[in-house]
Amino acid sequence: MQDKINQYISEINAFTPASSEELETYRIKFLGTKGIIKDLFDEFKTVSAEEKRVLGKVLNEFKKLAEEKHQSYKEQFESGAELTSSTFDLTLPGEGFEIGSRHPLSLVRKEIIEIFKKLGFNVAEGPEIEDDWHNFSALNFPEEHPARDMQDTFFIKKDAENGDIALRTHTSSVQVRMMENGKPPFRAIMPGRVYRNEAISARAHCFFHQVEGLYVDENVSFADLKQTLFYFVQELYGEGTKVRFRPSYFPFTEPSAEMDISCSICKGSGCQMCKGSGWVEILGCGMVDPNVLENCGIDSSKYTGFAFGMGIERITNLKYQIKDLRLFSENDIRFLKQFQSEIL
Ligand code: DAH
Repeated sequence: MQDKINQYISEINAFTPASSEELETYRIKFLGTKGIIKDLFDEFKTVSAEEKRVLGKVLNEFKKLAEEKHQSYKEQFESGAELTSSTFDLTLPGEGFEIGSRHPLSLVRKEIIEIFKKLGFNVAEGPEIEDDWHNFSALNFPEEHPARDMQDTFFIKKDAENGDIALRTHTSSVQVRMMENGKPPFRAIMPGRVYRNEAISARAHCFFHQVEGLYVDENVSFADLKQTLFYFVQELYGEGTKVRFRPSYFPFTEPSAEMDISCSICKGSGCQMCKGSGWVEILGCGMVDPNVLENCGIDSSKYTGFAFGMGIERITNLKYQIKDLRLFSENDIRFLKQFQSEIL
């Protein structure tokens, strides 16, 4: 029996399991209910009393050795040390991890900001929940004027002090806040989300994004407006893109215009996007109405300014030929994944 035990001791000393499976086989072999140690104890019962005195100690020490060996490897494997270089094939290719992509609207917003930054425009933001003054009255929308209905407003509540509280229908409200809180000159663009009570379809949504622009200083003219927007379009859609201005109406600008660009898709020869005309409208603009300047505490006899506002979705559609607005807010990974960009 002593010899057998000695043999097992050397076996255990030489044992270095590489996995928890190997350790489990070892446990069953030596420490299991039908294992070697159990057998040895059974055999121990049959030996003479004299032998028992010597063997008892040997057997107990052997059992302790077997258990300690098991315990130390068990702890090692549980702590994750199992992946030693001998079991880990370093030549296998790694698992790739996916980098997310920017949302197309974020990409285009960023691009617009970068272009205007080069012309010295700052970026400003304002609240999405607005009062009547900032969204309408200060912008020269008379009360009960039908122009208010043009923008289907989501009203939130009536407020005795501030008039109606609503989700802003355009980013022009940020112009007002900027002028009220500062002193000219102002040269900023104001990106943000706006809301309108429209039925959702491929062409309309109840929320979308705009970028507002404002430049107020002494002697700002319509020529400055035209040159600024011309530069912007060349940068965004490439040199040679044509622009044209059509007279329009906005309560907060006088004169007002809408700006078209030669269709970025067919380059002016006529396609579905421009409905065959070769031109697509991209923004509204004009000279800030003196009433708006005065409403915001700015001396309209000294200062003039221009403003413009564009929809980011529209600009993005023209750039990437996206035909359904709903794609922008559905979070479909198959759609979003297509917009990898160099400007991360
Ligand atoms: N606020 C207008 C809209 O939502 C866009 C706009 C037009 C902004 C002309 C302007 C502007 O600043 O001058 O339709």
